[in-house]
Amino acid sequence: MTENRVTENRVTEPQVSGRQDVRQDVRLSVDQVQKVYQRDGESFEAVRSLTLDLHQGEFACLVGPSGSGKTTLLKCIAGLMEPTSGSVVLDGQQVNGPAKGMAVVFQEYGRSLYPWMTVEGNIELPLKVAKLSRAERRARVDEALASVGLEQARKSYPWQLSGGMQQRVAIARAVAIHPSVLLMDEPFAAVDAQTRAELEDLVRKVWKEHDMTILFVTHDIDESVYLGERVLVLSSSPTVVQHDLVIDLPAERDQLVTRSMPRFTELRAQVYEQVQIAKTNKTGATTVSAL
Ligand SMILES: Nc1ncnc2c1ncn2[C@@H]1O[C@H](COP(=O)(O)OP(=O)(O)OP(=O)(O)O)[C@@H](O)[C@H]1O
Ligand SMILES: [Mg+2]
Repeated sequence: MTENRVTENRVTEPQVSGRQDVRQDVRLSVDQVQKVYQRDGESFEAVRSLTLDLHQGEFACLVGPSGSGKTTLLKCIAGLMEPTSGSVVLDGQQVNGPAKGMAVVFQEYGRSLYPWMTVEGNIELPLKVAKLSRAERRARVDEALASVGLEQARKSYPWQLSGGMQQRVAIARAVAIHPSVLLMDEPFAAVDAQTRAELEDLVRKVWKEHDMTILFVTHDIDESVYLGERVLVLSSSPTVVQHDLVIDLPAERDQLVTRSMPRFTELRAQVYEQVQIAKTNKTGATTVSAL
């Protein structure tokens, strides 16, 4: 499939660049997921029959115009919202609610951590819910804190930490449950540029150490190319996967070296172009009755 098929201003199948997909090790399968919201007595289709597979160990970034349905899709995948139709399958099991094997990190770290619990208490909570033994919980918390370099802050409360540190706690909490798939929704949008770069490198490190599969939503085209092994560009709503691009940069990423590579510039130009197409090929606020 090398051509972008656009029918009546609507992308019907994603354009795939550089992908020769023969792998069988599918972790997450999103099959024809559709989400229709009801608002003001009208139906609004945010996600349309969206299909994608994530394989073991993949780091995929999801970009798309604002309001295209990225968060909606992530919530449907995470089991936090029921799709109107279609299915999500994680490790062979249909997702019908928050799934054991999935962890989510959102942008609002301030709201996602419990202020009355210490850092280690916050990380340990989902492990208690999962009924892990005290010894196992202890080992997982230690491991997660070491992964994000926060051993010194384990007895601190979230409000005693900087925004970047709080987001590290949220990452540690997600990592500690040993998820098959980690979902991240613009997790670094609220931190400064320097901290953001550090957190990007941290996520790549954690991804490698834990051999995780990551789906990372970002507005930032450069960030998607720097972080991902694959970038999926979503169309405007009702959203579908418009473009699926392999990021063939060396696995060792470095903020200065990688970002100054000619290939990086080429890839970001390709993603940028696709996002522009997504913005201009507006399918608009389609009501279901009008489909
Ligand atoms: N609970 C809801 N009820 C009705 N419509 C909603 C609801 N949540 C989202 N929408 C609409 O669905 C569309 C997709 O929203 P969503 O938040 O998924 O987009 P997004 O791609 O994550 O946007 P952003 O890039 O700004 O975070 C938007 O038009 C939004 O207004
Ligand atoms: Mg969003």
